[in-house]
Amino acid sequence: MKAIIICASTHHGNTRKVVDAISKECGVEVIDAVTVHEKDLSEYDLIGFASGIYGAKFHRTVVDFAAKNLPKDKKIFFISTSAMNMDFTKSMAGGLEGKNATVVGKFSCNGYNTFGPFKLVGGTSKGRPNEEDLKNAVEFYKNMVK
Ligand SMILES: Cc1cc2nc3c(=O)[nH]c(=O)nc-3n(C[C@H](O)[C@H](O)[C@H](O)COP(=O)(O)O)c2cc1C
Repeated sequence: MKAIIICASTHHGNTRKVVDAISKECGVEVIDAVTVHEKDLSEYDLIGFASGIYGAKFHRTVVDFAAKNLPKDKKIFFISTSAMNMDFTKSMAGGLEGKNATVVGKFSCNGYNTFGPFKLVGGTSKGRPNEEDLKNAVEFYKNMVK
């Protein structure tokens, strides 16, 4: 099975840590959507979209990447890190319109946040993702592809 994760992780590299843990353990290819905007994904069986959350949304480059490059009828999954650890995947809708994608998994965890006023108090979710989060992420991926 050929899998790839499209990632944007611009705040503290929190999401990238999660993605790298999966990549290292499971040999999944990773693309940085901030620097790479085009890729032929037709040969991939499983495509992940991973992002920190900014203003309740996946990074614009990840949404745009999906809109531009995601072929129709693919299996996809989502990974996010955020201060609130909620499901923000609705914000990917613009990138998935007309793609007939099947969502086969979602993983999220807290990520260290020093945005705006939170910086003054040393940030929130310091140390996250931690080892436990990375272990959970790898487990999530392994279960998903089982
Ligand atoms: C500009 C900005 C906006 C953010 N907005 C939200 C938000 O709306 N909801 C939330 O839960 N976290 C929010 N956060 C926190 C980040 O989602 C969190 O720190 C995340 O782990 C960052 O991931 P990254 O290091 O991979 O970029 C925001 C952070 C920044 C810098």
